Amino acid sequence: MPKNYMIGNWKMNQSLTEIETFFKNVKLEDNQNNFWIAPQTLHYSKCAELAGPTGVLVGTQNISDQEQGAFTGEISADSLMEMGGHFCLIGHSERRSLYGETDEFINRKVAKAIEKGLVPVLCVGETLAEREANNTLSVVLGQLKSGLKDISLNNEAELIIAYEPVWAIGTGKTASPEQAEEVHAAIRVLLEELYGETGKDISLLYGGSVKPSNVKELLGQTNINGGLVGGASLKAEDFSALCSAC
Ligand code: 13P
Repeated sequence: MPKNYMIGNWKMNQSLTEIETFFKNVKLEDNQNNFWIAPQTLHYSKCAELAGPTGVLVGTQNISDQEQGAFTGEISADSLMEMGGHFCLIGHSERRSLYGETDEFINRKVAKAIEKGLVPVLCVGETLAEREANNTLSVVLGQLKSGLKDISLNNEAELIIAYEPVWAIGTGKTASPEQAEEVHAAIRVLLEELYGETGKDISLLYGGSVKPSNVKELLGQTNINGGLVGGASLKAEDFSALCSAC
């Protein structure tokens, strides 16, 4: 069975005071190391310190494909491991659309993360125009095939996939549970083709306007194993509610 996760992507949000309030108020039931937060990298250490007693694990929103050296502004996978990091988001649609990240680049980051022992949360998803042109599955499966090119796995815990339809991110428009499940089921088939038995157990998260009021229906779908959440992960009460639904 795939493990369920609830991951908060804080994007470029949260002041230090807000972070302190968050960790003071977050309440997690039945924590199985599956409640994760990706703050701004600048806040990584502070979050890791405050998250310790709560059991929340901390990671980053991005990672470099390079080993080390003259790469101004990049985040080194070795350094994140040294700091006790657990995971990194890779290929978020904002990275793809605003910063021009290509599938090839994303593939190198996935390889680097796995090589270093970080869990990559590989994000994929179609735009509204792609959905309306009936290209959802070809776009999403294409992003996955390229992002996972030549990536081998020892076990299912080494990789997480997040399906985030671009039109549902930060818009308040969630994909219906059926729309999400259709894509998740197709991703599952591809993962089984690529990784055999292991592919059956890789966790598939849904992202895009997930909130406490819609999370249960989404998680009720066969191939939805948790959420990758932006806005609703910023407040301790909402994140706690999302985690207990998980
Ligand atoms: P929202 O939950 O704010 O729609 O953001 C989703 C997202 O992009 C998480 O990575």
